[in-house]
Amino acid sequence: MGERYKVEALKDISFQLKYGEMVAIMGTSGSGKSTLLNILGALDDPTTGTIELNGNYSKDMFEEPQASLYRRENIGFIFQSFHLLKDLSVEENIALPLILKEIDKKLIPKKVDDVIELMGLTEWKKHRPIQLSGGQQQRVAIGRAIITDPPIILADEPTGNLDFNTSRDILHALVETKKKFNQSILLVTHDAHVATYADRILFFHDGRIVDEYYCGAHDDLDNILTRFKVITEKQTV
Ligand SMILES: Nc1ncnc2c1ncn2[C@@H]1O[C@H](COP(=O)(O)OP(=O)(O)OP(=O)(O)O)[C@@H](O)[C@H]1O
Ligand SMILES: [Mg+2]
Repeated sequence: MGERYKVEALKDISFQLKYGEMVAIMGTSGSGKSTLLNILGALDDPTTGTIELNGNYSKDMFEEPQASLYRRENIGFIFQSFHLLKDLSVEENIALPLILKEIDKKLIPKKVDDVIELMGLTEWKKHRPIQLSGGQQQRVAIGRAIITDPPIILADEPTGNLDFNTSRDILHALVETKKKFNQSILLVTHDAHVATYADRILFFHDGRIVDEYYCGAHDDLDNILTRFKVITEKQTV
């Protein structure tokens, strides 16, 4: 057996995510992007460091039951691999966070129908995930992430498995809900085109934020690709 060694997945990470802001995270494979999302979602706990929400932080937020409560109140997760429950229908999957949050049962059907309509899933609401395409499944996952109007959405490669048009529809849906609910979105992507939908991009390499870019110029895509190339070239030196 080889000696176990420690991986320092994140080092000196410090940044602010503002209300209504979409921040994309791009970076080399293994640079710590998913680790960061897992920590921000209290699915994982950092060795050191804190997260402040509206200027407040709780020392034991990574311990149960606080971590679950924090997630339920604040976070909507969207994963690349959807994580839908296969035995539940579309509407049941989307309703799940409301049930976990113990929302008044009478209010649930209307909320679910609104989100299903927003996601363009009305025709499929009685279907099981296996009967849907990848893009439709991802829209179910987004519906489930936004149904409780969480202030923060954490999305790890949400369009990684999808074709160009479906990715574009999903990004538009995310931008729309962001505007509607003034949400903060942190979105990990390897795709520079996806990153152009963000307000700002943080570039990760080897556990650190090594560059930052504010979108808004007509040549965003070129700028992002250039910066990303510089970072990937660093890796091979
Ligand atoms: N559960 C784990 N146990 C030990 N090390 C881990 C674990 N998960 C990730 N790592 C390590 O932490 C580092 C960061 O991994 P992470 O998954 O955050 O990278 P990433 O930027 O999301 O990569 P990718 O783009 O490939 O998804 C890597 O060196 C990885 O090997
Ligand atoms: Mg990852």
